[in-house]
Amino acid sequence: MEGKGRILTGHRPTGPRHLGHLVGTLENWARLQDDHECFFLIADLHVLTTDYTHPQRIRSSIAEVLMDWLAAGLDPERSTFVLQSAVREHAELALLFSMLITVSRLERNPAYKEQVRELGLTASLGLLSYPVLQVADILVYKADTVPVGEDQLPHVEITREIARRFNSLYGQTFPEPKSLLSHVPRLPGIDGRTMHTSYSNTIPLFASPAEIERAVMSMITDPARIHPTEPGHPEVCTIFAYHQAFNREMTPQIEEDCRRGEMGCVQCKCNLAKLLREQLEPFRRIRQELAACPSYLWDILEEGTARARPIAQTTMEEVREKMGLSK
Ligand code: TRP
Repeated sequence: MEGKGRILTGHRPTGPRHLGHLVGTLENWARLQDDHECFFLIADLHVLTTDYTHPQRIRSSIAEVLMDWLAAGLDPERSTFVLQSAVREHAELALLFSMLITVSRLERNPAYKEQVRELGLTASLGLLSYPVLQVADILVYKADTVPVGEDQLPHVEITREIARRFNSLYGQTFPEPKSLLSHVPRLPGIDGRTMHTSYSNTIPLFASPAEIERAVMSMITDPARIHPTEPGHPEVCTIFAYHQAFNREMTPQIEEDCRRGEMGCVQCKCNLAKLLREQLEPFRRIRQELAACPSYLWDILEEGTARARPIAQTTMEEVREKMGLSK
């Protein structure tokens, strides 16, 4: 794996992963393990930037994320799983980096502006400096590649700015990491909007056959198509987007049948539900097995964290020295 580049990416532990995470994100991360050294971070400190009043939720959410990651093929034998709060250097490096960026730069961050809009006016200092902590997550391991969704691009840009600033002040220390966007179109949720936990339109990775059935049957198809023999418009249909994600070989045929009015939406939905039931069955099974042995999950996290910590400590020693702090 030497010389192939180091990847760091992660999720905030906010509960079970859904199909939107699988398509485009987790599938991509699993593939990247073949030719990169990967660090997968469970960013529990980041959860506190918006939700610090439910400490009892964090532990169970960490286990949820970990189970879904493993079920999706992230491999603790090949990759390193890190619990952010267990490596104190993340927080320490974030403090030092906070000197190298202005408040106004952080106030211009689109992700921050959106959160503030959503939360009302109760934004904390921690939320404002969310990206600075993320920069520390990435640079404490000197990762050079950060696979993320489009919403996270501003944070990778801030990472590059802080790395540049640090290097120009104190000498070459950090890489300027690049983002790696997956080019798979985003999966719509059951209401047709982007699948997102806060929209309550998700299908969990471990959905039961009955849940899958219910979700698929409630999805919105082409609103202009009243009768199954009328020509449909797959480009506006949620079901078709799922066929594209989970049933790629068949999509040209489905598209043709739909446009010609040869396949009705109900039939098309039934086909999709069956397919999803089959494809998601292994996730459900692996997850059930994992749920039966929680200590295995915590062992993986502890092991990965123990592997990551010395790397973070070495970076921190270098940074402390360069910034004139005591050993
Ligand atoms: N902010 C990321 C998200 O919400 C999670 C995250 C925290 C992250 N630290 C990171 C992602 C470092 C990539 C690299 O999805």
